[in-house]
Amino acid sequence: MLVTGNDILIPARAGKYAVGAFNTNNMEITQAIIHTAEKLRSPVMVQMSEGAIKYGGQDLADIVIDLAQRSTVPVALHLDHGSSYDSALKAIKMGFTSVMIDASHYPFEENVHETRRVVEAAHAMGISVEAELGRLGGIEEHVVVDEKDAFLTDPEEAVKFVEETGTDYLAIAIGTSHGAYKGKGRPFIDLARIKRISELVSIPLVAHGSSGVPAELVQRFRDAGGEIGDAVGIADEDLQQAAQYGIAKVNVDTDLRLAMTTGVREVLKKNPKEFDPRKIFGPARDLMSQVVEHKMRVLGSVGKA
Ligand code: G3H
Ligand code: 13P
Ligand code: NA
Ligand code: ZN
Repeated sequence: MLVTGNDILIPARAGKYAVGAFNTNNMEITQAIIHTAEKLRSPVMVQMSEGAIKYGGQDLADIVIDLAQRSTVPVALHLDHGSSYDSALKAIKMGFTSVMIDASHYPFEENVHETRRVVEAAHAMGISVEAELGRLGGIEEHVVVDEKDAFLTDPEEAVKFVEETGTDYLAIAIGTSHGAYKGKGRPFIDLARIKRISELVSIPLVAHGSSGVPAELVQRFRDAGGEIGDAVGIADEDLQQAAQYGIAKVNVDTDLRLAMTTGVREVLKKNPKEFDPRKIFGPARDLMSQVVEHKMRVLGSVGKA
């Protein structure tokens, strides 16, 4: 069923598990996400960025909405990194049940102002809202505390932000970054900070940049002819701990991109004569389903629907 973000994330935070929010760009990605959720009885969030809306538009949103309505587990369609009030409103008109307003790059008061406007409009239509406080970016373990504090979400500020905006869930900067290169060695994730914020803020917390970039997948990508540098992601144990500490929504895009492309490459490498799209995208879809399943097991959302 198609539900709001709150319907999925409030029980997750209360139950100390997290729900994957997977980015989609086409039918196969959407099927891998929603069919796996159905198979595992897991709630799930499917998200489209503004870039995904530009690429797939209402056609893609309608695919997500239709699969969600025909599934028996809770599914939300979420706008990822909405950049403005207009963008959030446009998504709501398209049928999204959850929107992010990301004004985290503005000064605090402006972030509050932009977020509030979206919250007021979205709530009037029964849609829930994600906002962000702090700056994402790979912060390495050795970086001194003062420098970390300049980017990472300040717990006291988070309290004020949530009170002043009325946002339903809050994305916090805890050292993760988007993409396949999250820093040298084992990427830094500030678990103590998550714990502190969750002690002060009762709404669900959101972790962006949470792909695992698994070494086996990176190796398969390379073996199939792909080129990639020192790719590294967030360790499964760190995500598990984060879920215990109040992270309820875990954003994953890079892992599905890698799986899709690896699947396509493997088929084309093995059989250069193949040109039946179903033979090319079918295995890619299967590989993405495996990635989604792994993530749901790690986050503890399996069997929660
Ligand atoms: O956070 C960004 C997501 O990975 C979406 O990326 O804007 O290229 O669709 P995109
Ligand atoms: P990854 O690049 O780690 O998959 O993060 C995706 C994300 O945060 C989307 O908002
Ligand atoms: Na988001
Ligand atoms: Zn993000």
